[in-house]
Amino acid sequence: MTTLETGRTVGAGLDRVDAPLKVTGAAQYPNDFSFPGMVHAALVGSTVAAGRITGIDVSKAVAAPGVLDVVTHLTAPKLERGPMTLLGASPTAPLQDDRVLHYGQHVGIVIAETPEQARHAARLVRVRYEATEPLLDVADPRAEIVENPWGLDTERGDVDAGSARADVVIEGTYTTPDNTNNPLGLMTTVAAWHGDALTVHDSTQWPYNVRASLAAIFKVPESGIRVLAPFVGGAFGAGLRVWPHVVLTVLAARQVRRPVKLVLTRPEMFTSVGHRPNSVQQIKIGATREGDLVAIEHQGISSAAMDDEDYEPVSLCSSISYACPNVRTRDRLVRLNIPCPGSMRAPAESQGNFALESAIDEVAEAIGMDPLEIRLRNCADEHPLLGLPWSSKALRECYLQGAERFGWSRRTPEPGSMRDGGWLVGYGMASVSYPFYQVPCQARASVRHDGSAYVRSAATDIGTGTYTVMTQLAADVLGIDVTLVRFDLGDSDMPYAPPAGGSGLTRALSEAVHTACRRLIQEFLDIVHDDPASPLRGAALDDVTVTDGRIHRLDAPERGETYAELLARHGLEELSADGRSAPPAAEELGMAPAGAFGAKFVEVRVDPGLGLLRVARVLSAIDGGRILNEKTARSQIIGGTVGGISQAMFEETATDPLTGRIANATFGDYLMPVNADVPDLDVIFVGGPDPATPTGTKGIGEVGLVGLAAAIGNAVRHATGRRIRSLPITIDQLL
Ligand code: MOS
Repeated sequence: MTTLETGRTVGAGLDRVDAPLKVTGAAQYPNDFSFPGMVHAALVGSTVAAGRITGIDVSKAVAAPGVLDVVTHLTAPKLERGPMTLLGASPTAPLQDDRVLHYGQHVGIVIAETPEQARHAARLVRVRYEATEPLLDVADPRAEIVENPWGLDTERGDVDAGSARADVVIEGTYTTPDNTNNPLGLMTTVAAWHGDALTVHDSTQWPYNVRASLAAIFKVPESGIRVLAPFVGGAFGAGLRVWPHVVLTVLAARQVRRPVKLVLTRPEMFTSVGHRPNSVQQIKIGATREGDLVAIEHQGISSAAMDDEDYEPVSLCSSISYACPNVRTRDRLVRLNIPCPGSMRAPAESQGNFALESAIDEVAEAIGMDPLEIRLRNCADEHPLLGLPWSSKALRECYLQGAERFGWSRRTPEPGSMRDGGWLVGYGMASVSYPFYQVPCQARASVRHDGSAYVRSAATDIGTGTYTVMTQLAADVLGIDVTLVRFDLGDSDMPYAPPAGGSGLTRALSEAVHTACRRLIQEFLDIVHDDPASPLRGAALDDVTVTDGRIHRLDAPERGETYAELLARHGLEELSADGRSAPPAAEELGMAPAGAFGAKFVEVRVDPGLGLLRVARVLSAIDGGRILNEKTARSQIIGGTVGGISQAMFEETATDPLTGRIANATFGDYLMPVNADVPDLDVIFVGGPDPATPTGTKGIGEVGLVGLAAAIGNAVRHATGRRIRSLPITIDQLL
């Protein structure tokens, strides 16, 4: 395997290449796009959470100014369901029958000349329901329970035998609430039909999935559909699935034979584009007096929608996190009358890690061992399920370097033993072993006659830096100055890319870009293979390198020529090459491909009189393999850490237990941290390139968030002696 030569730009903290577009307002997000003759849509949402629609009166809406059409289940055509995929399974097609399965379900779409006219008319649609009592509580005995729906439960060893020989067994129930993805950009779809061809701008993390889904749902060929998402406006997982409102916008455009734009309102974002479902988790851990983990049993229940396949295997993290011989993980879904959940910022991992890493701390305390020590002692040097060495794992370095930099040794073990004036001070930590996820990806690279390069793939950049790191990577592999390289994405007409999700894009895409660029150099060598005029005649790829756009022999740097010279002599405008990547196979590799690892260290302050909790310091030590851009990577970990603080202390989607209405569906009511809640966040990267891919990078999209909830909970325990097993951690739990 050819590995990446350390170039001039990879690793460096290059400013984002798309920053000028963003700060000048030139970057076009989905709702910046318009088509000539475009009209606007607004949704009608159900005002009951369960039951049937018994009648719809659209007469007032149809008669309202500017209205072109109102589509309901009474008038909608039959639509197919889109394809099922791991991250982006399509929910069932909208408006197909009279059933109401959750509050806010789209029961109609109104199309009018202006957005205001559409919204006004949507309010005039009268829907009559025969409401039934909704199922809203995961503990409701009437609710259907789905066992192990995706076959992801695990079991190794004998948990009961392990527990029996444990000196200490701790048990606890941990709960996490519903959280809602809240990207700043309101998710938008703009659709225009031209005959059977369709162009769609969409707030998606996965243009190919939107294209494939719309082709299946509307029974038109994929080749006629183009989905564009050059900028997304944030996503956090909300852009992985092809939501009903996307389908409805495309349907509306076909009905009125005009391009249609739909921008979700903020309240609609809470019911239309997924959320992190709540969980109830039972965890039981057995350990010896010396601190060896001998049994872990982790069971999770998450809520799911009535007619949906989204799945959160919250307990799964316990299967790979520690070198414990006896482990059982089991997950179930409970079907409720709630909006479809979806992946949200470290789906399943962040909930499961809260229970696991809190419980590990409980064990440490029970046997009187330092929380860092017990984690070091039980560090899994082999992949616990595959029994293979990890392709790379610098978790021990995360622990040790993180502890050193944080000053963990200053921690005195006794709860409540550290103070600063009236504040109780607590130190807490948590570990993260993020799962490996990679799926195939493709890219195409071209060098033009002027010596510039153009590289592209149908990926998305959800704000994390994909444009930038792929530009750097292509520049280094092609040996071209970074200012002469353009990397483009967000267009389903480009080569296939998987979603920007599951912390899986950067690794897959960087390997595809690397391969495409290497093949492109080979293309140049092929052209001059028999060219008597070329100093590169007969050279093989391994005989050459490229510096400043000039290919030259490694053993004789004076023998070479530039891309531009070579193209000109052969009368070519440009040369291109494709590259693809696939996940490495563990058996072939003889190693378990590793995801990212991390250790989180947190200092909190608690005012015992007022119950105030403040995060004072956070240090994240991250093993992300090769870091392609130190600046964007650091920003990504910082952003994830803010998300983790948010999950730990703020976010909770509140559903009215009687009606199923979401009671805090605005930015005013749905709490998130502000600057004053977020201290300076320290990040260190440890470890080195991962040998399982040519570029050596691992995805760090989600490892930044996971672990904060447990680390903060553990720090609260240290400060106050209270063990909080329910998120978010709020004042009332600390009084
Ligand atoms: Mo991420 S929640 O897989 O976009």
